[in-house]
Amino acid sequence: MSRTIIISNRLPIKIESEEGGFVYKKSAGGLATGLGSVYKEGDNLWIGWPGISSGSKEDYQKITADLSKENLVPVFLTEEEIQDFYEGFSNATLWPIFHYFARYAVFEETFWESYKGVNQKFCDVIIQHLRPDDTVWVHDYQLLLLPGMLRAHFKDISIGFFQHIPFPSYEIFRSIPWRRELLMGMLGSDLIGFHTYDDMRHFLSSVNRLAGIGYEHGQISIENRRVTVDAFPMGIDYEKYATTATLADTLAREVRYRKSMGEEKIILSIDRLDYSKGIPQRLRALELFFEENPEYLRKVSLFMIVVPSRDNVERYRLLKVEIDELVGRINGKFGRVNWSPIHYFYRSFPLEALSAFYRMADVALVTPLRDGMNLVCKEYIASKIDQQGVLILSEMAGSAKELSDAILINPFDIKQIVDALKQALEMPKEEQKKHMAIMQSSLKRYNIHHWVSLFLDRLAESKAQQRHSITQKLNQKAHQEVIKSYQDAQKRLIFLDYDGTLAPFTKDPDQAKPTPELISLLTQLSNDPKNQVVVISGRGRDSLGLWLKDLPLDLICEHGIWRKEKNEDWHKAENISDEWKQTIKPVLELYVSRTPGSFVEEKNYSLVWHYRKVETGLGELRTRELSSHLKYLTNNMQLQVLEGNMVVEIKPAIVNKGVAAKMWLEKYPADFVIALGDDRTDEDTFKALPEDAFTIKVGFEATEARFFVPSTVEVHALLADFTEVS
Ligand code: UDP
Ligand code: G6P
Repeated sequence: MSRTIIISNRLPIKIESEEGGFVYKKSAGGLATGLGSVYKEGDNLWIGWPGISSGSKEDYQKITADLSKENLVPVFLTEEEIQDFYEGFSNATLWPIFHYFARYAVFEETFWESYKGVNQKFCDVIIQHLRPDDTVWVHDYQLLLLPGMLRAHFKDISIGFFQHIPFPSYEIFRSIPWRRELLMGMLGSDLIGFHTYDDMRHFLSSVNRLAGIGYEHGQISIENRRVTVDAFPMGIDYEKYATTATLADTLAREVRYRKSMGEEKIILSIDRLDYSKGIPQRLRALELFFEENPEYLRKVSLFMIVVPSRDNVERYRLLKVEIDELVGRINGKFGRVNWSPIHYFYRSFPLEALSAFYRMADVALVTPLRDGMNLVCKEYIASKIDQQGVLILSEMAGSAKELSDAILINPFDIKQIVDALKQALEMPKEEQKKHMAIMQSSLKRYNIHHWVSLFLDRLAESKAQQRHSITQKLNQKAHQEVIKSYQDAQKRLIFLDYDGTLAPFTKDPDQAKPTPELISLLTQLSNDPKNQVVVISGRGRDSLGLWLKDLPLDLICEHGIWRKEKNEDWHKAENISDEWKQTIKPVLELYVSRTPGSFVEEKNYSLVWHYRKVETGLGELRTRELSSHLKYLTNNMQLQVLEGNMVVEIKPAIVNKGVAAKMWLEKYPADFVIALGDDRTDEDTFKALPEDAFTIKVGFEATEARFFVPSTVEVHALLADFTEVS
């Protein structure tokens, strides 16, 4: 039976040594809860690091045996790996880059080597447990290379990847020396998920610019697999927080805490120790708030929990010192014998305590400078049973995209935080209730269980789609099959696209003239009396027609507007006019003037806007603008707008390569039909051919063709083999 295997750097447990044995404490984290229903079921597994840094062989055996009862599989890391992989590459290289703290990033070859090594270590452990029909779900930035490593072993396995932290803009990501390897690792997946649409588009743009791989509607074609990229904002276990907030134990804790605090209003903040969380900025805002609003002294306190995290990484140690100093300064400056502006806890608390804090807080102040999602703000809202309370939330947190009823602030704007605090503390109860109700209903619906099933369903769907539309590589066996059919046939119809298929795709279209070798190959092929060879191209007859004019083959130019059978004259498709060009040409010229490097090619009955030499990204942007501009303009003109390889072509609607190919199929019945092409316009040819025809795509993009070959080299090899047999 198909199983789901979850992989994350950390297992959802903590191990503590006690009286010679081990105690296993379950993690209360959102991911652990959400995936709890998945990994505990049947033979499913969760594979990850158990969080300990040393132990004897016997300890490791004991831990492995204990964990296996819980469907958990440990990957043990050495002290050196913890230093170089975990504290090093994961948290001193990737973490700062991905959170826009490029200046904190350390680029160390030893860290990178260790990152590769540990990803491989995970891969090796997984391989021991994996079955070919399993679904694998890899989590987060510590394991970016893992999908690619797994894909190398299991070509067809279903792999999902979810990144819990932001994906930065290409301009930041590009600074990582190993950027391409990281992207290629991620692209081993079938589905890649991010919290927000912005993360998703940053990733797509990096893939496009750094790996030169295009995308369409969030799908990337690579080695004839389709990788789907989408946004899946993660939710919380809403019921758990809502229920815990009503437990007698939670209420008793709240009363106890309240008593020790006095009557003041409470502002709550809860974070791991991390520079991405904006803790010093928040403290400075509080200081300014008290300075500007002294009437709030003794009436409001900040209850601040900072959970120790990654304290071996230098930046985190420095941050701790900065926070300690700021808290000391503010408490020293404004504190009184019986009142402190800040109650500061540098430790972690269990869920019951957090729930009581959430309940008693009048305001939650969540001000990350960058955060993938931020669950604390969601937990605060779910815990507000009486719907009293105000959330101040940084617009830099992924959760801000869903929680527009919070008071949204720019965390770098301290003045704005001060104003938000005042607004929150003075907000009427009815208004608080109104905003809370809206946010609660959304969080209730988009909870963690919804997130898990949405991701896994989408993964299953993408995989099914992929298996259905799979295009095989024209390997040795398939190559032989094509040759055998060719040899057995009495009549053969051979459609060959030109640019990118017979001649390599070049930046300058005039450089694509046929070489003497190509001319000789086409001549030999066409001279075989059993063969009807058709070169079918978008090119004008003034180039292709001239280049191939002496060869005994058929030509279809401008996607079928001009047609010529061997030894005959050119024929033009019927009912074709070129009057429309007067209207469309000025529009294309406008895009040329706006887009350096682009140019217009005028064919007899079509116009083409070329952008091969335009800056990557800009050409694609202009294509979208131009296409929608033209679609609107050509509404009643019976024209079609075709997006090809680095071109946008406008031509009469009644012609395309498929229509032309069909005419040849009717006129020249054959028992062997083959078409080779690299462009989107060749898809029309592939679709027009009978099912048993050999359709071969040149290149790696998604296609309707049955087979693909990587380049024109393989096209020439195949045609050369044809000429060897009669
Ligand atoms: N948390 C906890 N104990 C604490 C403080 C926080 O269990 O003392 C939990 C909190 O409930 C939340 C998580 O830690 O689920 C923090 O997640 P978030 O997405 O807010 O930040 P991250 O630490 O993942 O960057
Ligand atoms: C963030 C990351 C997680 C990570 C967690 C705690 O939420 O997205 O992958 O596990 O922080 O960090 P730690 O370094 O303690 O695992």
